[in-house]
Amino acid sequence: MKPLNHAELISIAEEYGTPLYVYHAEKIKEQYERLLHAFSGSNTIFFYACKALTNLNVLRYIRNLGANVDCSSINEVKLALHAGFPSSRILYTSNGIDFDEIKEAKELKVYINIDSLSNLEKFGQHFGSTYPVGIRLRPNILAGGNMKISTGHDKSKFGIPVDQIHEILSTVNKYQMRISDLHIHTGSEIKDVDVFLKGIEVLFDIAPHFEDLEFIDLGGGFKVASREGEEETDIPLLAKKVGDAFANHPYKNGRPLQVWFEPGKFLVSAAGSFITKVNVLKKTSAAEFVSVNSGFNHLIRPMFYDAYHHIENISNPEGVVKNYSVVGNICETDTFAWDRPLREVREGDLLVFRNAGAYGFEMSSNFNSRFKPAEVMVLNGKPHLIRRRDQFEDLLRNQQEVI
Ligand code: LLP
Repeated sequence: MKPLNHAELISIAEEYGTPLYVYHAEKIKEQYERLLHAFSGSNTIFFYACKALTNLNVLRYIRNLGANVDCSSINEVKLALHAGFPSSRILYTSNGIDFDEIKEAKELKVYINIDSLSNLEKFGQHFGSTYPVGIRLRPNILAGGNMKISTGHDKSKFGIPVDQIHEILSTVNKYQMRISDLHIHTGSEIKDVDVFLKGIEVLFDIAPHFEDLEFIDLGGGFKVASREGEEETDIPLLAKKVGDAFANHPYKNGRPLQVWFEPGKFLVSAAGSFITKVNVLKKTSAAEFVSVNSGFNHLIRPMFYDAYHHIENISNPEGVVKNYSVVGNICETDTFAWDRPLREVREGDLLVFRNAGAYGFEMSSNFNSRFKPAEVMVLNGKPHLIRRRDQFEDLLRNQQEVI
């Protein structure tokens, strides 16, 4: 499916203003169907890692597609429930949280993955064998793109190190806990499918210790292309290799294990475009700067992860190509792209950032007391405003004026 074209984006920007996030619903569907198709006939299900984008309309759209949802905070769990996911389709993969939050998740009857010995112990003490629970392990595998998004290696805070299996088993046995799921998530933007296979090996090694195991959760992290020709995770190859690995696995209790994945970026990244307007052009001896009406307060990925976002000048698609440095308008260095070839840019032009659906709006802030952008969803060819732009009152909303 082609990304939303220039004319569509210009007309949406004219109607709703900029900066603006625009999501193409059918692209999310296309991505989900790619997964279903590749894994068809296998016992695999998908939980959308909603930390990528939690707009309720996106959640509902994904719910209607039939996917499940993976949450990383109790508030994401509540948003998922609000969006109409039944608790039986919600997974809460916790990380470093207070036990009270796990208790709340248990009351809400969702699946839970625990990622520390401390919370495993507390779960055992409180609930014993009465509520099945999953364990997030750290498999000590280096994977993923930028180091900041690599989570399975031996210096990572995430999960219980797999070398602490004796401590895990001692807690599980002490409280006769029912461990229904073993989970890993080794990173984001994993190109190499063998990383998942390595993870499966680690989990299969310890799986025989867990009598009640029903699911193996391999996390998210599928890579999508951020520029033309870039290599993605080969999903059909992944499906084949995972299928083979599980087909050869001897099931302890005679029941086949179900495989879970938690894709975030893969489902929503390419569906999103971020439209900005050029405020100022500034020629210096170092670069020709293009300042847009945004910054890392709206799209932090380039500054935080050195992430590449393809940028197009949709107002001048036939202009001559020149090199520019695209920056924001906040009072910090907020470079989106350095020395980037673009069609000639004029003040007032609209620049669109592609692949902005995942961790774009979701990681935005009100830094410099600027408004968060609005969000629009294009569904069946029709744009709908799904979040209004902040207004001045939003900046005041929680402040207590004591002076
Ligand atoms: N499952 C767990 C437990 C996770 O921690 C994550 C992402 C996912 C699934 C989904 O990963 P994905 O399929 O989206 O790669 N903000 C960064 C990405 C951080 C991902 C954090 N965890 C970025 O913008 O690149």
